[in-house]
Amino acid sequence: MTNESNRRDFLKTSGLLTGSALLGGLPFGAQAEMAGYGYHTSANDTIKVALIGCGGRGTGAAQQALSTKQNVKIVALADAFRDRVDDAYKALTERGAKAADGTPKVDIPEDRKFVGFDAYKQAIPLADVVILATPPGFRPSHFEEAVRQGKHVFMEKPVATDAPGIRRVLAAAEEAKRKKLNVVVGLQRRYQPSYREMIKRIHDGALGDIVGGQVYWISGGVWHKPRKPNQTEMEYQMRNWYYFNWLCGDHINEQHVHNIDVANWVKNSYPVSCQGTGGRQVRTSKEDGEIFDHHIVDFVYADGTTINSQCRHYEGTFSRVDEMFLGTKGKVEGMEKRTSALMGYNGQPIHTYDAKADGNPYQIEHDELFAAIAKGDYKFADAERVAKSTMTAIMGRMATYSGKVVKWDEALNSQIDLFPTTLAWDAMPKSLPDKDGFYPIAVPGKTIAV
Ligand SMILES: NC(=O)c1ccc[n+]([C@@H]2O[C@H](COP(=O)([O-])OP(=O)(O)OC[C@H]3O[C@@H](n4cnc5c(N)ncnc54)[C@H](O)[C@@H]3O)[C@@H](O)[C@H]2O)c1
Repeated sequence: MTNESNRRDFLKTSGLLTGSALLGGLPFGAQAEMAGYGYHTSANDTIKVALIGCGGRGTGAAQQALSTKQNVKIVALADAFRDRVDDAYKALTERGAKAADGTPKVDIPEDRKFVGFDAYKQAIPLADVVILATPPGFRPSHFEEAVRQGKHVFMEKPVATDAPGIRRVLAAAEEAKRKKLNVVVGLQRRYQPSYREMIKRIHDGALGDIVGGQVYWISGGVWHKPRKPNQTEMEYQMRNWYYFNWLCGDHINEQHVHNIDVANWVKNSYPVSCQGTGGRQVRTSKEDGEIFDHHIVDFVYADGTTINSQCRHYEGTFSRVDEMFLGTKGKVEGMEKRTSALMGYNGQPIHTYDAKADGNPYQIEHDELFAAIAKGDYKFADAERVAKSTMTAIMGRMATYSGKVVKWDEALNSQIDLFPTTLAWDAMPKSLPDKDGFYPIAVPGKTIAV
């Protein structure tokens, strides 16, 4: 079957294209366009991509999309800030990448560069695939809109910062499945050959039952962007998004979700409850916003297994970013390393993995996504499980902020909505500094976090 006939079949079976039979006489691209569907529509097989959130990761993801074997073009950029659009445009055009027909692969005239809180709404209609790489607080609304417009999605983790956001992502994930939209989420360990192979073997029983484990993201801290004169509070928080929970969700969510997701993957389920401790030992200045610098959480699964999670940001200390799991027959750690092993308790390896020839998982995510789209295959539905792993991280934060045992259902149904009521440069976020510039910090035992 040719790619074209695959795509035609795909269109026929797509739930969204109820009117496709009526459009049968039109060329392929026009059919899809008139049906309001953003599938890979271009007659000449170009896959058009819009980048929403033109920072470090978004620009990297756009480069990876351009580096796939498919005929990908970046056609639109959207960011809250003009300078970020300009930086991304410069980085993406620097290499002068060209399509097979000699046209530039980065084709973004001035009228396809969009700026501001609504920029995403203008960029999404122009693309077949959207890359969502803003801070995670915006992911629910951006993902909802991309799915509403029938686009395939590559989006970064985490996918929300609070439970109302998670519920929106879960609903949009259902809609994406109904519309057969491919959705890949940047938890790249899920696309990393060593993890895939080792976790398949664990699921096949190589370590026996998994009865415990430890997941870590312990490292130094991240950047600050100094407050500027005349900057509004909204702009300050947007520039320093890492330190504000409505945007970031704290580092247990923003970074540690990678390792927490590996625990959920190994356990093939989500925790039923958790309790934890956390606070600010070194993160004490007013530039540090409202996030903690350490969280230690026990996640308990339905079979009674406890996985302990540790994340912390202390400069100049021991670092560890990986996972360790204990089974009844053996253990594993360091699955991200060049060589790793499932080890028996007798000290003999049960299986050794050499990652020497493995590709870059950030590239593999895009290679697999764009190959599926080009073939007209529906293969990826990552949003639901990443929403649940993001919810796991948020539940951990709820536990460390409150000091209470938090149960999955109460966490998922939490009505605490961190998002500002109005999104505008002169509007006020919910968390504001006191007269000395310090933001409110959660106090376990007092803070209501669920
Ligand atoms: N998978 C990974 O390993 C990995 C690595 C780094 C970052 N990330 C994730 O990627 C996302 C972005 O991180 P980053 O490091 O690129 O941050 P960044 O600050 O470099 O980029 C974020 C960009 O989004 C823009 N933005 C903010 N709000 C916006 C809005 N409402 N509409 C449009 N643009 C908006 C910002 O101005 C900024 O340019 C985060 O979710 C982060 O967790 C993932």
